[in-house]
Amino acid sequence: MKIVFATHNKNKLKEVAALLPHIELLSLTDIGCTEEIPETATTLEGNAIIKANFVTEKYGYACFADDTGLLVNALDGAPGVYSARYAGEHGNAEKNMDLLLKNLESNSDRTACFKTLICLNLNNQQHLFEGVCKGEILKERHGDEGFGYDPIFKPAGFDTSFAQMTLDQKGKISHRGLAVQKLIHFLQSL
Ligand code: IMP
Repeated sequence: MKIVFATHNKNKLKEVAALLPHIELLSLTDIGCTEEIPETATTLEGNAIIKANFVTEKYGYACFADDTGLLVNALDGAPGVYSARYAGEHGNAEKNMDLLLKNLESNSDRTACFKTLICLNLNNQQHLFEGVCKGEILKERHGDEGFGYDPIFKPAGFDTSFAQMTLDQKGKISHRGLAVQKLIHFLQSL
């Protein structure tokens, strides 16, 4: 079965492809889609739907798209749906982490969670899958694996940050891994 994963992010594609060995996973580049799909919704679910619909409507492929946010409790769920652009439109992972650490400086509550929503368009039907990983924001960066906020996020029940884990270890417990496992379960039940 051929399914498009609507992302330009090579790290994410690698993470998800490792979890879906039985599916021919196509990237946006593979189908000739080089444009950036606008993420204009105010919810993770809304953005996942926009991205999956864009590919299915324009290219005619079965497609799934995800949207992820880091929700920090002491910051009322920020950066949330704006996680990629927390430090500004042209922000990057380093600037985003710097800003988050600064905004949490005087806070003793460092609990947070990553949440992923996946929208799958298959055979004219839409399906949603959610994955949540609870944890806390560390006071400084640890490790250099992964991407995004990985160096400052420690999942609950573990002693290391996401950035100190292998792809395999992270995939088993991460928000995206859990949402993808639900997607896999669904695809296997067809
Ligand atoms: P996206 O919706 O997956 O593109 O995620 C939005 C933003 O959330 C990314 O730009 C990252 O800053 C952050 N993010 C998403 N997934 C992860 C992850 O697994 N680890 C760390 N940061 C992530």
